[in-house]
Amino acid sequence: MRGKMEKKVTNRAIMGMKGGEKIAMLTAYDYPSALFGEKAGADIILVGDSLAQVVLGYDNTIPVTMEEMLHHTRAVGRGCSRAYLVADMPFGSYQSGPEQAFENAARFLKEAGAESVKLEGGVAIAETLEFLVRRGIPVMGHVGLTPQSFHQMGGYRVQARSEEGLRILRDDARAVQESGAYSMVLEGIPMEAARIVTEELSIPTIGIGAGPFCDGQVLVFNDVLGIYDQFVPKFVKRYATLGEEMERALGEFIRDVKEGTFPDKEHSYE
Ligand code: KIV
Repeated sequence: MRGKMEKKVTNRAIMGMKGGEKIAMLTAYDYPSALFGEKAGADIILVGDSLAQVVLGYDNTIPVTMEEMLHHTRAVGRGCSRAYLVADMPFGSYQSGPEQAFENAARFLKEAGAESVKLEGGVAIAETLEFLVRRGIPVMGHVGLTPQSFHQMGGYRVQARSEEGLRILRDDARAVQESGAYSMVLEGIPMEAARIVTEELSIPTIGIGAGPFCDGQVLVFNDVLGIYDQFVPKFVKRYATLGEEMERALGEFIRDVKEGTFPDKEHSYE
């Protein structure tokens, strides 16, 4: 079923959804997952750097490269026409400064068909975010639990649990908004913190592991469908168990081949 918005989704349309119809964002990593996300009615399709774990088999998002992200963004772009296409900037592609960030962000728009990029961080990268926005690159922020800081955080930890943590989160969120970003992801924070930040901002927040008070929600494609079970965080709701179904189907094919019951006459040419 499609969402209400049938027209091409833009960054302005996303901004207009603040406090209104909830924004539904899904990740996608290839052509078929993009087509499924589109047909289901996602407003935004994100080529997340979660690609690293759920598709490429890395342990975390640190190793995924620009070339890998570009390759998968191109494939997603071929399946994405109505939804707004956002590409995640991988670790190491923007942290050394605004110029590096611009060069890499521009590649996503020029070479891969992305309409926007997402960067992790708040106050620390505000100058970079503003640099991109001023040069015509729509930016989605990402604050709270930022998986690219995995090593610095000492693992994936819920953020903003203390007063000091909440202050840091609010400063980061304000810095992202002031840089000109049109929206931001709030990840891994208590729902009350997400409510405070969402009410304080004039741009939409899109939550993951941030409770129900954000302006939108995002989940990883493979988590929604139950085809990734290496690590299933508390906030993931599985809407299907396709992994089990895939295993069953593949197992039946292998059994049929071994037993000589496939191919049969029905699947052969006279
Ligand atoms: O990489 C990713 O998939 C993400 C989201 C889930 C927000 O950044």
